[in-house]
Amino acid sequence: MAERRKLVAGNWKMNGLRSALPEVQAIVAGARGLGQVDLAICPPSTLSPMVGEVLLGSPIALGGQDCHASANGAFTGDVSAEMWADLGARFVIVGHSERRQYHAETDAIVAAKAAAACRAGLSPIICVGESLAERDAGDTLSVIAGQLARSIPDEAGRPDTVIAYEPVWAIGTGRTPTLAQVEEVHQAIGRALDARFGAAGRQIRVLYGGSVKPDNAAQLMAVPGVDGALVGGASLKAADFLAIAQACA
Ligand code: 13P
Repeated sequence: MAERRKLVAGNWKMNGLRSALPEVQAIVAGARGLGQVDLAICPPSTLSPMVGEVLLGSPIALGGQDCHASANGAFTGDVSAEMWADLGARFVIVGHSERRQYHAETDAIVAAKAAAACRAGLSPIICVGESLAERDAGDTLSVIAGQLARSIPDEAGRPDTVIAYEPVWAIGTGRTPTLAQVEEVHQAIGRALDARFGAAGRQIRVLYGGSVKPDNAAQLMAVPGVDGALVGGASLKAADFLAIAQACA
């Protein structure tokens, strides 16, 4: 099986004022001692230019939390993939369950955003995940398969694309799936990427997200098919984010 270097990405969501910049400085300082792991921080848009400056010259990448499908235009409040690229970002999250839920984003919208990311030279981090009702109904694998088929555009069939498996019921709840459940979904995602994209698909990293914390990261990151983590709450504190990165290195 192809060896994929692990990636730990912090999704700050709608958190962080300028007073949070020292956390980024602490992450940059702490990351120097880490081994073989890629790191990214996705701050809120307002902080992104400042975070980008702190990250400059460090191995930690900047990422956006969302992008519009168009390069520019009359879309008040939106940020395009080209704007993220212009800021020096390398990643952009698309299709997070909070965007799907609160902004009514469909798989087709997510696919258009992922295609925009590719167009701008960014790596999309395309999120998928089942609700608790879907898991309880035994529909997890079919839900994920459908989301993958419809949310990943053909353009994203390349090695630098990232998929994040985030069970909706595990986000911000302190609950995580069992390691066997994580492995089952990650293996299924890996097979789907292989079947659709071949060699490029086998290089696509599949992150786990949902209540990843310093005390469960090592176990989760050791699950076969888990290529890193998309971290919400625990990414806001440098010590916690670095501890999770350390568990991956
Ligand atoms: P938490 O780590 O806070 O559960 O959030 C996960 C997430 O949604 C990352 O995108």
